[in-house]
Amino acid sequence: MAELPRVFVTRAIPEPGLAPLRAATHLEVWPDELPPPYATLREKAAAVDGLLCLVTDRIDAGLLAAAPRLKALSQMAVGVDNIDLAAATARGLPVGHTPGVLTETTADFAWALLMAAARRVVEGDRFTRAGRWRTWGPMLLLGPDVSGATLGLVGFGRIGQAMARRARGFDMRVLYYDRQRHPEAEQALGAAYAELDELYARSDFVSLHTSLNPTTHHLVGEAAFALMKPGAILVNTSRGPVVDPQALYGALHSGRLAGAALDVTDPEPLPMDSPLLTLDNLIIAPHIASASFQARGKMAAMAAENLLAGLAGQRVPHCANSAVYDP
Ligand code: GLV
Repeated sequence: MAELPRVFVTRAIPEPGLAPLRAATHLEVWPDELPPPYATLREKAAAVDGLLCLVTDRIDAGLLAAAPRLKALSQMAVGVDNIDLAAATARGLPVGHTPGVLTETTADFAWALLMAAARRVVEGDRFTRAGRWRTWGPMLLLGPDVSGATLGLVGFGRIGQAMARRARGFDMRVLYYDRQRHPEAEQALGAAYAELDELYARSDFVSLHTSLNPTTHHLVGEAAFALMKPGAILVNTSRGPVVDPQALYGALHSGRLAGAALDVTDPEPLPMDSPLLTLDNLIIAPHIASASFQARGKMAAMAAENLLAGLAGQRVPHCANSAVYDP
């Protein structure tokens, strides 16, 4: 009997991902709550045929070069900015990822953050628990209406478009910016294309749905905040470094922005002495936008499917670097 391929999974993932790997591979799962340290990850990767990784694992050119046996790399996430895709592509290594199965779940959470920031849900909870709720207050914890406001979406892929669908139910005007126009989605969702400057100037809410790459690193910085409407609210469920944290602090501290809500930060996690943690008008969640039982189960299953296909020498069904098949 042929030997089973060796696989390393960098954390315990939901069972729909582990079960098929257990059945078809010689499987090792990193047991700790925290990710394997880089040196350990590099050692493990060098010893296996397949690696299933997460956004917390740095898969750089050095690690890939030290793992000549690696035949399949599969990430349980849609974004793959932690992986040196160019280095993987250069050696013909397909990189699996998990688009589609987390779209609605992530948009649900971005919407929750938008609503929570506008209507000061987290501040209200802190206020109540601190024993400060003494009476119904005509001026207590006011925030802007979401219904009827203008939403600016930076990035209009699957998740950006899912946000536009939600916005329709709130009678919002929807603007979007993307590297490319999406005429069909514009029509179907009643969204209008705008250049970034115009989007910032006209939006009451700005929500980020772009991938992280050299052109989007600190895309939302001082210049962007200066263009935004006074009293605007920023939501980020994309990647932390798309927002310049120092500029965000300035915009929130000065009150130019009414509020912000982040599911992702730069760095991640934020150090406990980060000035951002002192701001009342900022909500910070620990990168959980895709964290529904259903989405995480589907992400794990898809990551396993991608990995097993790569190990079998078949085309990886959800491949982030399809250039490996089409050089
Ligand atoms: C999570 O952040 C993902 O990219 O799926």
